[in-house]
Amino acid sequence: MSILIFILCLAIGAFVIYLAFILPKAVNTAEKQLINDEVTLPKGEEEKVEEMSNNLAGYNYAIGGLAAAVIFVGTYYAVEGTPYEGHFREWSNLIVRLTHITFGIAWIGASFYFVFLENSLNRTKGLRDELAGNLWAVHGGGFYYVEKYKLAPDTIPKDLHWFKYEAYFTWLSGMSLLFVVYYFNAKGFLIDPNVMDISPLTAISIGVASFVLGWLIYAGMSSSILAKNVPLFGLVGLIVLGCFAYGYCQVFSARAAFIHFGALLGTLMAGNVYFVIIPAQKEMVRCAKEGIELDPSLGKNAGWRSYHNNYFTFPVLFVMISNHFPSTFGSEYNWAVLLAISVGTAGIKHYLNVIDKKETSTWVLPISVFILLMTAFVTAPKVSNGECKTVSFTQIYPIIQQRCVTCHSAQPTDDVWTSAPNGVMYDTPQQIVAKADLIMQRVVITKNMPQNNKTNITPEERDLIRCWINQGAKTD
Ligand code: HEC
Repeated sequence: MSILIFILCLAIGAFVIYLAFILPKAVNTAEKQLINDEVTLPKGEEEKVEEMSNNLAGYNYAIGGLAAAVIFVGTYYAVEGTPYEGHFREWSNLIVRLTHITFGIAWIGASFYFVFLENSLNRTKGLRDELAGNLWAVHGGGFYYVEKYKLAPDTIPKDLHWFKYEAYFTWLSGMSLLFVVYYFNAKGFLIDPNVMDISPLTAISIGVASFVLGWLIYAGMSSSILAKNVPLFGLVGLIVLGCFAYGYCQVFSARAAFIHFGALLGTLMAGNVYFVIIPAQKEMVRCAKEGIELDPSLGKNAGWRSYHNNYFTFPVLFVMISNHFPSTFGSEYNWAVLLAISVGTAGIKHYLNVIDKKETSTWVLPISVFILLMTAFVTAPKVSNGECKTVSFTQIYPIIQQRCVTCHSAQPTDDVWTSAPNGVMYDTPQQIVAKADLIMQRVVITKNMPQNNKTNITPEERDLIRCWINQGAKTD
């Protein structure tokens, strides 16, 4: 039965993708003809074709996403409860994660490139009147020459490239990743009963609602008089973000709390592109086409939001990799650590902005680095240094069997982890010895294994493990 549903879903998915490719073909051809001046349409008609083609691209992508979702659900349905479920989760994670980082690199890369371009333009030598600057570059075996206009060019080119899908897809794939890793497996990663014992549905609703709320607060702040006072705006923004960081850490498991904070910043960034920057650019293009005088506040507002995005990049990048660093999310004051690292990294971004503009800055970098180093210092583990008696492997083996192997095994018995997490297994003594360093890290130092201490390891057992590893982790 489930194999039938699987095949049906695959078929629907494939058909939808097929539709997404053939439908827009006609429109694309029409647009190409326009761009190559093979046909001329009456005024107004041209815009219509352009708009249709733009909408179709979006529609195309939406359909592709939908098809992927159908295939995902179908496959999940087919493997649910079988030994392949864990494998399926792993591969969904892998595919979505790869997509997410690829789009993220494209987005942030484009953003870094344009900041660099803006800061490196030749603004003085041999420029035509209408130009603000130009840049020669050599890359990938070719010479490139870019010109920036002071205002819009006299005629707006028909094939104007927009940078927007990088942002949209980063956000969409990021939300999908949040879904695949945390929401789809809420009991495993999202919820930690020792933090707050809530149902998956409640937890997911809180997560999603927090993004909407965060955006509303931010959008309100950005269009209020607060926005006129940049330092005050920054301070209030920081306090609000601090509240979110604190709130997340009171509701979700520590790693999920960090990821939600990053997803919130990512939502603000993508929201800025979708709701403010792109509409402003569209309006600018319209004004230029119709020869209407441009409202300068449009560009200014878009610039202001893109300036915020610039500061969000480093904190978001930290959160994206934070899960690899248990000393950060595993700290008792993890919300403060999160905030401190956000401030420190955004400070480094500020320093880069300042020196890019060839202005001087004395304190920004030292203060930012100091904040980050202080965070490292404060989160340093308090290792118990009690005296050790000789510990033999026969004392350690049963502890690992009882506290770890429920998850870390070729055949886990845990209800949530049906395949060995990260491929780590402790079925044999050799496997245990091979991972002794990691065990020290996670069980003794950061103490975030067993996960959520689901198997109730005792402090005495942690200490035995510490002594055994310090004595060379021998199997006798
Ligand atoms: C309830 C299930 C569960 C139990 C019990 C459990 N773990 Fe884990 N473990 C996980 C999950 C999930 C991950 C992956 C997420 C992470 O790295 O935090 C993991 C990751 C790890 C890692 C990191 C592997 C890597 O590649 O970085 C180590 C080391 C580890 N566990 C050791 C242990 C030890 C030792 C015990 C027993 C004292 C234990 N775990 C008990 C679920 C569990």
